[in-house]
Amino acid sequence: MTDLSCLAVVLAAGEGTRMKSDLPKVLHAVGGRPLIDAVIESARAGGAHRLAIVIGAGADKVRAHLGKAAPDAQVFEQRERLGTAHAALAAREALVHHQGPVLVLFGDTPLVRPETIAALIGRLSAGADIALLGFTTDAPTGYGRLIIKDERLVAIIEEREADAATKAIRLCNSGIMAFRAGLLPELLEAIGNANAKGEYYLTDAIALGTARGLRAEAVIGDDESEFVGINDRVQLAAAEAIFQQRARAEAMAAGVTLVAPDTVFFSFDTKLDRDVVVDPNVVFAPGVQVASGTVIRAFSHLEGARVASGAVIGPYARLRPGADLAENVHVGNFVEIKNARVDQGAKVNHLTYIGDAAIGARTNVGAGTITCNYDGVFKHKTIIGADVFVGSNTVMVAPVTVGNNALTAAGSVITADVPDGAMAFGRARQEVKEGMGAAKKAALAAKKAAAKSSG
Ligand code: UD1
Ligand code: MG
Repeated sequence: MTDLSCLAVVLAAGEGTRMKSDLPKVLHAVGGRPLIDAVIESARAGGAHRLAIVIGAGADKVRAHLGKAAPDAQVFEQRERLGTAHAALAAREALVHHQGPVLVLFGDTPLVRPETIAALIGRLSAGADIALLGFTTDAPTGYGRLIIKDERLVAIIEEREADAATKAIRLCNSGIMAFRAGLLPELLEAIGNANAKGEYYLTDAIALGTARGLRAEAVIGDDESEFVGINDRVQLAAAEAIFQQRARAEAMAAGVTLVAPDTVFFSFDTKLDRDVVVDPNVVFAPGVQVASGTVIRAFSHLEGARVASGAVIGPYARLRPGADLAENVHVGNFVEIKNARVDQGAKVNHLTYIGDAAIGARTNVGAGTITCNYDGVFKHKTIIGADVFVGSNTVMVAPVTVGNNALTAAGSVITADVPDGAMAFGRARQEVKEGMGAAKKAALAAKKAAAKSSG
């Protein structure tokens, strides 16, 4: 039986010159994840079973990234950047050993939906030899233009090769193509480089295939925003804006209230349950999960954090990686929480840093509390039990443990463990001198008057 699994070849070797960056283009992020990861996920979800990724510019960084992000992918290196057809040929070993259809995608086109890719692959079983995803746009500059004759795609003309009439065409190449099994290696080898850039253009596969009697079809996507290719920072920002619009719409469709949607920023993996309410100006960096009924107040920043239901976060709260908040926890203004579990109903409401810590249920952490978790070399843990009252401006010098139902006096520096039910004072005892305040003020006033009359 023939193996009809689909191989996706992702081209990601380009210099990304127009990004003017030290970071390889495909490692720039949209929605908090590298472009290449988004492309890989769409390809897999759209029906690709195997992956071949062609890297080149910044190869070491991209290879290291792929080792973690797509360990099953075959990685090929294109040593010279001679164009997209040349890049695809770098994956020749994968192509010649593959029996099924081949999908080619660009690493700089991260917003395409899996359904769109699946529809493209579907065209092959419906009779096309080559199927290409196109789109119509009022801003076609930079994209290859599709030449359609008698409903057949006959050629793609790159911007640089286009005359004025061709440049006026609004039908563009997304760069995503599907090829019937066995076609691609031979077509790639036949592509030449007699063009303005002296590059081997993958897009020439269309005219070449058509000349050989192959049937090429364009599938025209109806949502232009899926096909934004990122070549410079303006397009990067445009893609980010599209990503955010989608994420906001999806969140609201799933039952999340966004009071001012345009001011809330999501990451690719943000998970908000229904009836979460998000006030204006909130940022969800990667790795955030929030359960139902939680309210995130204005100007909060969350990253790598889990929040259970019924919590109130912010305004102006910062949850950093490893923040794990249980049901009905309150975290208020100018509070930073990192790598810390906060149990049911605990409150940390004002001007506080909790790092590398555990806080028990119903504990109240007073304003200005700091866990000193770092001694300059090592990180240490602060463990605070349940039903503790942490007095305002307490400094917990970790490692330190405060038992259940204990109390720390305001302004204390806690350097030793506090047993269950104890009260700890870690501050100088207050002294009161009767009359001394008024006397001091009078002496100062007299000094000021004397200075005035002599001056
Ligand atoms: C390309 C297409 C254009 C299409 C547009 C869609 C060609 C010749 N042009 O133009 O028709 O409308 O994408 O966004 O295919 N790459 C390599 N090695 C190379 C050159 C490029 O791996 O030698 C990779 C790049 O990393 C990138 C992709 O191929 O991911 C496309 O290259 P890029 O230079 O961005 O082509 P565009 O000018 O955008
Ligand atoms: Mg591009």
